[in-house]
Amino acid sequence: MIVVGGPTSESLASKVAEELGVAAGKIEARRFPDGEKYLRVLCDVQGQNAAIIQSIHHTPDELLFEYLLLADTMKDLGAKKVTAFIPYFAYARQDERFKPGEALSFKTVSKLIESVGTDEIYTIDMHRHRVLKSSEVFGIPSHNLSAMPLLADYVQKLGKLEKPLVIGPDAEAEQWAKLAAERLQTDYDVFQKTRLGDAKVEVRPRRSNATGRDVLIVDDIISTGGTIVEAVKILFGQGAKRIQVACTHPILAPGALEKIREAGVEDVIGTDTVPSPISVVTVAPLIADELRKNRD
Ligand code: R5P
Repeated sequence: MIVVGGPTSESLASKVAEELGVAAGKIEARRFPDGEKYLRVLCDVQGQNAAIIQSIHHTPDELLFEYLLLADTMKDLGAKKVTAFIPYFAYARQDERFKPGEALSFKTVSKLIESVGTDEIYTIDMHRHRVLKSSEVFGIPSHNLSAMPLLADYVQKLGKLEKPLVIGPDAEAEQWAKLAAERLQTDYDVFQKTRLGDAKVEVRPRRSNATGRDVLIVDDIISTGGTIVEAVKILFGQGAKRIQVACTHPILAPGALEKIREAGVEDVIGTDTVPSPISVVTVAPLIADELRKNRD
């Protein structure tokens, strides 16, 4: 088996390779003077099961294209099987034609990934609102892993919160709130969210009352931070004691982190599916566990 990190996920791939006790395969990636991408596989992949790790985050078009070049090249060089690990999978939100004529980006991206010979795909806490199973979009075996147990373990180790109430800021976050609460052996609830614009949301509480409680807010993505800030306002309004926030994908638009900290959140924790200043939890064990199951 060979583990190769695409240009944005080299560090994560090294951690996965280390977990597995194998050397990470090397590649070279740069731009030609005219802006085109150059990519070269520097390891021997002939007859191997190859795992490519490449998150598709802030510059998704470029990172997706790098994945396509990498997977296609590896198949061409004789890799027996190519498994894609795309920890953050951009374009999943455009899974429907909300207005006539819109591109179904999710579908197009999945078709591209399959077209270069990807045999199997893994994502982590993929943003799926309407698509409930990856198999509705992918024609190859697909799996969606969750980093929530790892995040909850980190929160536990920090040891700052006492039997926290776990809150998911919207209905979709129930899956993550449930997982984190199970791991922390505590209770959870979700808020209701209405999106009013790209950076504006309205959040309303449901049953729970955070009076006198420590709270852990969990979500898949923090982008502008608007969702978290609105949830924090409600929780402090109810009388919450301390609040920590954990997310799988710290996309963090400019100013997001500052906004969340100014709202009174003690710690904002993220994983390395997207490299960021708060990526303190690595998803390497999650990926390594899957690879161990399918080892040569
Ligand atoms: C949306 O449904 C997601 O789960 C996140 O809540 C959302 O992407 C966060 O975005 P923002 O930080 O911009 O509010």
